[in-house]
Amino acid sequence: MQLLGLVVVTFAVYCVHAKVYFREEFLDGGLQTSQDARFYAVSARFDPFSNEGKPLVIQFTVKHEQKIDCGGGYVKVFPSDLDQTDMHGDSSYYIMFGPDICGYSTKKVHVIFNYKGKNHLIKKEIKCKDDELTHLYTLILNPDQTYEVKIDNEKVESGSLEEDWDFLPPKKIKDPEAKKPEDWDDRPKIDDVDDKKPEDWDKPENIPDPDAKKPEDWDEDMDGEWEPPMIPNPEYKGEWKPKQIDNPNYKGAWVHPEIDNPDYSPDSTIYKFDKIAVIGLDLWQVKSGTIFDNFVITDDVKEAEDIGNETWGVTKEPEKTMKQEQDEVKRKEEEEKNKEQATEGDEDDDEDDDVEGDDDEDAEEEPLTENDDEDDANLKDEL
Ligand SMILES: *[C@@H]1O[C@H](CO)[C@@H](O)[C@H](O)[C@H]1NC(C)=O
Repeated sequence: MQLLGLVVVTFAVYCVHAKVYFREEFLDGGLQTSQDARFYAVSARFDPFSNEGKPLVIQFTVKHEQKIDCGGGYVKVFPSDLDQTDMHGDSSYYIMFGPDICGYSTKKVHVIFNYKGKNHLIKKEIKCKDDELTHLYTLILNPDQTYEVKIDNEKVESGSLEEDWDFLPPKKIKDPEAKKPEDWDDRPKIDDVDDKKPEDWDKPENIPDPDAKKPEDWDEDMDGEWEPPMIPNPEYKGEWKPKQIDNPNYKGAWVHPEIDNPDYSPDSTIYKFDKIAVIGLDLWQVKSGTIFDNFVITDDVKEAEDIGNETWGVTKEPEKTMKQEQDEVKRKEEEEKNKEQATEGDEDDDEDDDVEGDDDEDAEEEPLTENDDEDDANLKDEL
């Protein structure tokens, strides 16, 4: 277990309307996982609050600088009774939110809510970013039980808690009293009664081999009566089946009628969490190097967007430019290396030809051009 150290620097910021419960910007560069194939656990505590009647916004940035192959990039939000010194994968949490990547198949944003002691995963698939740049992840949970997920301050998913998770049993169920009527005909096709089996249809499946001959030395006393071996009958047509026709009594597929589910009762407080008090990273990374930063928990959607703009929004363009420049430098280095290798290779091949490397490149292209001309000429001849 790799402990990065507890985040202790927390500050609550009070704006006129917005309440920021937690905010952490690592001014010296962010929290970064540093060793491959390790569990990471780090958490920070703030004054407990309830999101009753208010939006809850959880926001942070993730940068997989290392070209991640497998590893979590999500945060967990805990109730106040979490023992931070013993936070682990099974510690019960309220909300888990953020990107998770493993191989090509798992590249998604988790949105998990605890409801009555059980974790419920979102039923929709939300794709996460898998490049090496910093991305802003935002979860908005509203008191009208709707939610929104944003990446880089743009909505990528939204909907209602009740529809997109299975917190509650279904509203409707199949009526257990309802039964398909005995005389319900759901066969689209039936046998054609007018179709009759041809008189000469039935033939034995196997017949004695007409070409078989009793062996010369067959001794009836010793070997018994000789019988020819059986072979498949070429005239055998198999089982006869009548032609199929449309069923005039076909009523279509029977649909089981539904009734209100007696086990269902609405709950308008699914979204509500009391004594929210800890945010933590509790994750496994195969390839380390992920940088987490700009954590915000607030009740104000616009404030979160503002903070996102002031942090991630300000650095994203310079970061992109820097990345492009770095990639360009790398690309050129690769190119140089390849050229050197190619030249060395040519020199080896052309040792007997007395041709310099530069001329050789032209020489390679020329035959192609000549071939093209020849093809054209042939085509013209044919025409
Ligand atoms: C954040 O930045 C975007 C893009 O520049 C802008 O459209 C949006 O209005 C900004 N949000 C706030 C709250 O200022």
